[in-house]
Amino acid sequence: MIEFAGIIAFSLLLLFVDCGARSLNALPSKQNKRSRKPLQTSRPYNIAHRGSSGEFPEETTAAYLRAIEEGADFLETDILATKDGVLICHHDVNLDETSDIASHKEFAGRKRTYEVHGVNITGFFVVDFTWEELQTLRAIQRFAFRDQQYNGKLPIITFEEFIAIALAAPRVIGIYPEIKNPVFVNKHVKWPNGKKFEDVFVDTLKKYGYNSSYLSEDWLKQPCFIQSFAPTSLVHISNQTDLPKIFLIDHVTVLTEDTNQTYAEITSDVYLDYIKKYIVGIGPSKDMIVPVVNNYLQLPTSLVDRAHAHDLQVHPYTYRNENQFLRFDFHQDPYAEYDYWINKIGVDGLLTDFTGSLYRFQEWTSPLNPRDADDNPKEQFTMFAGLLAFSLLLLFVGCDCRSVVKLLSKEIKGPRHPLQTSCPYNIAHRGFSGEFSKETAAAYLRAIQAGADFIETDILATKDGVLICHHDVNPDDTSDIALHEEFADRKRT
Ligand SMILES: *[C@@H]1O[C@H](CO)[C@@H](O)[C@H](O)[C@H]1NC(C)=O
Ligand SMILES: *[C@@H]1O[C@H](CO)[C@@H](O)[C@H](O)[C@H]1NC(C)=O
Ligand SMILES: *[C@@H]1O[C@H](CO)[C@@H](O)[C@H](O)[C@H]1NC(C)=O
Ligand SMILES: *[C@@H]1O[C@H](CO)[C@@H](O)[C@H](O)[C@H]1NC(C)=O
Repeated sequence: MIEFAGIIAFSLLLLFVDCGARSLNALPSKQNKRSRKPLQTSRPYNIAHRGSSGEFPEETTAAYLRAIEEGADFLETDILATKDGVLICHHDVNLDETSDIASHKEFAGRKRTYEVHGVNITGFFVVDFTWEELQTLRAIQRFAFRDQQYNGKLPIITFEEFIAIALAAPRVIGIYPEIKNPVFVNKHVKWPNGKKFEDVFVDTLKKYGYNSSYLSEDWLKQPCFIQSFAPTSLVHISNQTDLPKIFLIDHVTVLTEDTNQTYAEITSDVYLDYIKKYIVGIGPSKDMIVPVVNNYLQLPTSLVDRAHAHDLQVHPYTYRNENQFLRFDFHQDPYAEYDYWINKIGVDGLLTDFTGSLYRFQEWTSPLNPRDADDNPKEQFTMFAGLLAFSLLLLFVGCDCRSVVKLLSKEIKGPRHPLQTSCPYNIAHRGFSGEFSKETAAAYLRAIQAGADFIETDILATKDGVLICHHDVNPDDTSDIALHEEFADRKRT
């Protein structure tokens, strides 16, 4: 990995001095072909969703190299076709959100409105540009809250360049390409000899030696899953390639783009019985497995159990570390989310924007080279946890928090786990202030439950000399003082 890391660093450097990606992709293959570390198959697959797209603009060389460096098992990508039939890596059928097309005045006249999967979309479409033209564009970060520094620097890459990146990696790394919007692409792009998009897609994989059945000796040398939301595409290629196929499942309200079937139809036992002849697994949106209301998880559906009963793997999408995407149940902790999906729901692969965090979570909880299991800090709190849950409940039914604190201080006598002094201290800033109002009993109870070493607070004094926990010298921002008419005249400067 060290040797490869140097190449990655060098490659990224080249990208930024604007060498373009063409020569770059050839670089890592200069490495010797010594035996490579095999694909791990002992724990759920770490599938780098559009590369390390949490860090770099999605589906770029930088995003894929970073995912390899961070420990991905598979590099995921979306395949679309240009006007002249070149297969490229790009998620959206239009270029508007993830490229700098808006600043290319020479293409201003290419804006079109097309019906895509039942919706009219206006923008600049990949199918209206030749590959030569697309090479002049640069990628843009999709989300405003992610790192923008790479905007305008990284080119779009072809399916073949993507494959070259995976084949050149210092260990065996799988690929996970999607046949993207096949109905739309086949309508707009034509290939010679009556070939369809799906045929050209499979031909490209075969050209580089990807053709073998799941877990066969050849597959383990060049692992690949083919994914699609369109069941007829998966059936169409079933007698062209033995590669394992994943049937993607969209949200409840979305009909399949090719067969116009409902979510209920394609997740029924009858349908799973039919489709399982062609696929090795399904790739549902997370919310289709565990519905969400007001950002809280609801009871899981039977989808995972039924898929497993049909001998189908489940690879849900998408895991994203940022608070914007984390359900409240996970307390703003992406590791808690991985823990839930891997250990409670029991999925077989995870499509994540943050390969690095999933890799670290799995190394801690199911290391590829097992060490002695560390003390599990969670267990140390099990006894106390029931009491804490009860106390939190009391707080929320409006019980006076002082009596809860008294109750707790009675119960926690007896042998207690000592303070850990072997790692840097985990100091709960104003309690678990990410979740509860800061410096409240609830915030401190939650911090204890979550494993804090110290609970931090700010001490101020009242007019009559009582020391209290409060950060700001004025309670304007962190209390409901504004609603207390009786104190209206206490405002001071
Ligand atoms: C898209 O626009 C065309 C042309 O205006 C119209 O005929 C068609 O019904 C529209 N489709 C949808 C799904 O709105
Ligand atoms: C391949 O499968 C398609 C669709 O199931 C079928 O129409 C076709 O005859 C098959 N071709 C071969 C060579 O088996
Ligand atoms: C790829 O797999 C198909 C289906 O099993 C088989 O017919 C074909 O011969 C294979 N092609 C190559 C190049 O190995
Ligand atoms: C798809 O199915 C829905 C109902 O499930 C129907 O309203 C719609 O007309 C169908 N569309 C096509 C293109 O068949």
